Amino acid sequence: LLMKVFVTRRIPQEGLAVLSQAADCTVQQWDSDEPIPQKELLAGVAGKDGLLCLLSEQIDRAVLDAAGPNLKVISTLSVGFDHLALEEIKKRGIRVGYTPDILTDATAELSVALLLATCRRLPESVEEVKNGGWTTWKPLWMCGYGLSNSTVGILGLGRIGQAIARRLKPFGVKRFLYTGCHPKPEMAAEFQAEFVPLTKLAEESDFVMVTCSLTPDTKGMCNKNFFCKMKKTAVFINTSRGAVVNQDDLYQALVSGEISAAGLDVTTPEPLPTDHPLLSLKNCVILPHIGSATYATRNTMSALAANNLLAGLRGESMPSELKL
Ligand code: GLV
Ligand code: GLV
Repeated sequence: LLMKVFVTRRIPQEGLAVLSQAADCTVQQWDSDEPIPQKELLAGVAGKDGLLCLLSEQIDRAVLDAAGPNLKVISTLSVGFDHLALEEIKKRGIRVGYTPDILTDATAELSVALLLATCRRLPESVEEVKNGGWTTWKPLWMCGYGLSNSTVGILGLGRIGQAIARRLKPFGVKRFLYTGCHPKPEMAAEFQAEFVPLTKLAEESDFVMVTCSLTPDTKGMCNKNFFCKMKKTAVFINTSRGAVVNQDDLYQALVSGEISAAGLDVTTPEPLPTDHPLLSLKNCVILPHIGSATYATRNTMSALAANNLLAGLRGESMPSELKL
């Protein structure tokens, strides 16, 4: 009996190869780099046993209803799972695969790149070279904040937060703080990171790195109240999910000089409209959600998502199953 799967986007070849080599599976795909229209998604999942989806698709009750009772496995090409209606999925006995661990290094690396680009004002400097603003070597020009002797606060010391701290330590960071729902002594030991309340993290960090997952608890956590406690010289970096931040409050904090700069790899919405106020600010560096975007990592993610899907459909243990 052939298992029917639907793939919602063009994905790296590695994953498709895994699926097409499986003798017990037939693949239907939205074979485009552009997002699948909702109508096509609902039609595509109908009657399928498995779904391989992206973080840009909301897998909600409407999609699950459209899929029908055959749907046994949802495999997302992401470590994040805030786009999946987990309660509803669990209720229907559907298993979920995701792609943790393998994208940790790439995402931590991008986070560090974004931090350096923001605190040392790289995009702004590049622009000045192009527009003639570079007239001479000026002692007071394009100064930023460096990592030496700094305090870094990490919101959510998980796999990625830990990998960021490991990379930042050699830059001379003096002190690491972190917050989360509970202390993680085994993760924190390597950096002697201190578990502190959110307020203390805001008050004492020179650089704030957001790496927590988006949940009802973390939604809007970085708001006016948080930004107004941060140092005026502090830099805010988010590489997790846009909705952890109240973006209007961040805009106000950047405009009013409550904080010095922000670097965002994630926004609400995505893509951010090109006329969005945040894009008019020189002290805000915005990237198009590219944390895991190395060739090697995306290839590995694709293969893992495909292997998760097949294992789940065969009733085997999945390489990376999300515990529901
Ligand atoms: C990227 O944001 C992911 O969740 O994999
Ligand atoms: C900088 O280039 C310096 O020589 O101080």
